[in-house]
Amino acid sequence: MTKRVLVTHQLPGERFHDLCAHCDVNVWMGPGLLSAEALREELAGCHGLLCLLTDRITAELLAQMPDLEFVSSMSVGVDHVDTAALSARNIPLGHTPGVLVDTTADTAFALMMAASRRVVEADHFVRQGNWTPENAWAPDFFTGKDVSGATLGIVGMGAIGQAMARRAQGFGMRVLGWNRSPRDVAGIDSVDLDKLLAESDFVSIHVALADETRMLINADKIALMKPGSVLVNSARGGIVDEDALAQALLSGHLYAAGIDVFEREPVPTDNPLLTLPNVVVAPHIGSATVNTRARMADLAVENALAALAGERMPHCFNPQIYG
Ligand code: GLV
Ligand code: GLV
Repeated sequence: MTKRVLVTHQLPGERFHDLCAHCDVNVWMGPGLLSAEALREELAGCHGLLCLLTDRITAELLAQMPDLEFVSSMSVGVDHVDTAALSARNIPLGHTPGVLVDTTADTAFALMMAASRRVVEADHFVRQGNWTPENAWAPDFFTGKDVSGATLGIVGMGAIGQAMARRAQGFGMRVLGWNRSPRDVAGIDSVDLDKLLAESDFVSIHVALADETRMLINADKIALMKPGSVLVNSARGGIVDEDALAQALLSGHLYAAGIDVFEREPVPTDNPLLTLPNVVVAPHIGSATVNTRARMADLAVENALAALAGERMPHCFNPQIYG
């Protein structure tokens, strides 16, 4: 029997035609992203799902899909998927680690540079016609905070955290790191989280969102951060308490922030972070290069093809299901 697979978005990359050659593919053509209702309708009777991080794969949805044999997400993070519910049914979950490591570390570094050197604020200043002869240059004109030679604290020393550390080393930074399960990484001083927060001029988040990391950087932890420091989050919104962060930025305890991910996405326009000039924001674009997105899509297809062939997915999030 030909298996049926739902693909929730048109995909970049080169492997999509291989998927079409191996199963009956239904691609959601929009307009827009699949709603929860449309996902339920389109997925009914399917054997496989290739989804995005915007598709919420809940236990309730899965309970209505008795035929489902695999899920492949075009993302490294899988916090949008009820992984326990999948594993309970021995359904493999594919994801796309590795290929987006450098691109995402580049984004984190760009946010760190932009926030500390006020790049976006300066851009607005010029475009809005405020750069006038009376306002041409001054010793304190748009002065920011040095990245070079400063201390960077990396929260989560996985592949992206380590790639961030390599960039920082090129800028002569001292690098501190904290990981949930302690790790030894060359060039990173492993410390506990409180010490990292107290000593770092810049803190960059690189942990996955899971029960153990939800609100990891809460008001108490933000209070521990070094006065005048900068927070960068390119991981997941739910890791940082956004209200506490906005308060700390408003009070001047923190100098600035660079934020690519929010607790709710798209971020509601009344989010307090959006009113602060010392916050640089982006719409979840950590892995957004043409090349990397194509490689992520290809990996997601490869995971799906392996599942269709009854083989182990090359990048399976829950490999314990293979026994
Ligand atoms: C992006 O946030 C991803 O998880 O791939
Ligand atoms: C800055 O442009 C300088 O010349 O110091």
